[in-house]
Amino acid sequence: MARRILVTSALPYANGPTHLGHMTETIQCDIWVRAMRLMGHEVVYVCADDTHGTPIMLKAQAEGVTPEQLIERVGAERRADFAAFGIGFDNYYTTHSEENRRLTVRMYQALAKAGHITRRSVRQAYDEKAGMFLPDRYVKGSCPICGAPDQYGDSCENCSGTYTPLELVEPVSVVTGTRPVARESEHVFFRLGDFEPMLRQWTRSGALQPEVANKLDEWFDAGLRDWDVSRDAPYFGFEIPDAPGKYFYVWLDAPVGYMASFANLCARRGLSFDDWWAPGSPAELHHFIGKDILYFHSLFWPATLEGAGFRKPTAVHAHGFLTVNGEKMSKSRGTFVTAQRYLERLAPEYFRYFLAAKLGPGLVDVDLNLEEFATRINAELVGKLVNIASRCASFIHRGHGGRLAAALPDPALYREFTDAGTGIMEAWEALEYAAAVRETMALADRANLYIDRQKPWLAAKDPARAGEVQAVCTQGINLFRVLMAYLKPVLPGIAEQAEAYLGAPVKHWRDVETPLVGSLINEYRPLATRVDAAAVQDLVEKTMPPTDTAAPAPPAATQPAQITPDDFAKVELRIARVEAAELVEGADRLLKLGVDLGSERRTIFAGIRGAYEPAALVGRHIVVVANLKPKKMRFGTSEGMALAASDDTGLFLLSPDSGARAGMKVS
Ligand code: 2FM
Ligand code: ZN
Repeated sequence: MARRILVTSALPYANGPTHLGHMTETIQCDIWVRAMRLMGHEVVYVCADDTHGTPIMLKAQAEGVTPEQLIERVGAERRADFAAFGIGFDNYYTTHSEENRRLTVRMYQALAKAGHITRRSVRQAYDEKAGMFLPDRYVKGSCPICGAPDQYGDSCENCSGTYTPLELVEPVSVVTGTRPVARESEHVFFRLGDFEPMLRQWTRSGALQPEVANKLDEWFDAGLRDWDVSRDAPYFGFEIPDAPGKYFYVWLDAPVGYMASFANLCARRGLSFDDWWAPGSPAELHHFIGKDILYFHSLFWPATLEGAGFRKPTAVHAHGFLTVNGEKMSKSRGTFVTAQRYLERLAPEYFRYFLAAKLGPGLVDVDLNLEEFATRINAELVGKLVNIASRCASFIHRGHGGRLAAALPDPALYREFTDAGTGIMEAWEALEYAAAVRETMALADRANLYIDRQKPWLAAKDPARAGEVQAVCTQGINLFRVLMAYLKPVLPGIAEQAEAYLGAPVKHWRDVETPLVGSLINEYRPLATRVDAAAVQDLVEKTMPPTDTAAPAPPAATQPAQITPDDFAKVELRIARVEAAELVEGADRLLKLGVDLGSERRTIFAGIRGAYEPAALVGRHIVVVANLKPKKMRFGTSEGMALAASDDTGLFLLSPDSGARAGMKVS
């Protein structure tokens, strides 16, 4: 029986480019959507950009644009990236929409009315210079438990301890480099604990993967605490109706964005919103997410839905992360592959195929090993699958005018191929993608073996055997057609080209139960070609050695050459006042300094992180080389050099005696 299924993938934050991690999730989801459609179900797939919150607000500020302008630009880029990878959304929307505001407010008011909202005062880190409360990740300092430097305000990467930002030793605001103060403010909380009995039952209803359900038991044991759903201005989001100056926390309105994107589609398609979202709706609701956002989707989300009188998800499908050559995707390691970088080098469906060949239903990470990628494309996709068609195509045109034989010479073999369809489709549905690909490729081996044995290229030499050649190649092309139908969820573009070539569209996978015989087919054009291993390797950037402006000097092997006073005069040394100092993500040795040179402000990246806390530098006068050619680094451009003395006992910035002012010339 046909099912009605609403599917979502997680909403990407609108503050950065689409990368292969995003693509991994949307491709997994898109394959499922396409497979379910191929089985005859009614499937609607919606998504959106997740546009609210502090990082987006600050990013817009840093770029000198409004948050609306930023999210508009990122949204347009995102849509283009997803389209290029063949993601077939029915709607890709934005959480900064009227539909989302209306639904979020409706949800909040329903929760408040039912007594699930409470308020209390919260003490938080406040940046007086920026005039804002700081999210935990915007405060850094030394861990209060183990003393490790440079830790975020919520947890320590060294000892895994958790704490609040104000407990950090020497806390520093990442926004301004100043020391935050403690400030109180009233916050709005959602009483998650009210929903514990429902959640315990829902968790075991089959909606979650077994390992996720076990994780939830740990969370139940730890106790379900109230969830802070408000943030103080300045904040980019929706203002809370009965709390002026307070905004809904981005994580409250983000999943509502699923509903809002669907509501937006309803208006266009004439669908009934309530048919899909009312409690007891016969429609299914499936969310695809990364394992890092399970708490939101398996606890907060079903609880807020239930509390506000909506239906709950049928299933939450969590996946692992994408690693590249066995490493976490990381900008500093060069393994952060954007969608654009990939698209400039390789065909998008190759990544879809590779992923499908690797994905399973669990939470394990998937590794994009570049050598394996090249092998799978060249040996499997091109060498096995597409090869079946390219081996047979020319014989049908040569001598037969492009007409297939009137009957298959080996109907039993064909039946074996079509009989395998049920199992392969079940594998797609169960997210057993690697198994589905494996099984399809095993059939491709059999098809190639059939052609190897029949040797149409030999028979073609004998005009008396023309009918045999046509029959064998008709069989080969039909086997290819069946396999292409099974892989259509993964390779929608290649499958469509194959259907155009054969003049026979496949809407339901069972369409291939009837073979194509006696019909005319079109001229064959290569459906996929081998990848160049160098282009694949070029997906990752060659990592640059760390570049520091004031790194300890190497030991002098030889005496430096003598210079004249004129030589020395070429170097313009000036006093600078450090206005801001911050850590540079992904650079262990660097600090980013904003310095005042009297008449202008400059940015300098200095390799002094091991020796100085950023906050301790603000206000200090240092000596800089002011006429150094600007140097482009991974993180930005360094417009000067901070002078420091160093040897293996440490590193010491040079400072003038007190009284010196920013901009003074040093000679
Ligand atoms: O973690 C993230 O990237 C979030 N933007 C995902 C949001 S999913 C949904 F809840 F909106
Ligand atoms: Zn620690």
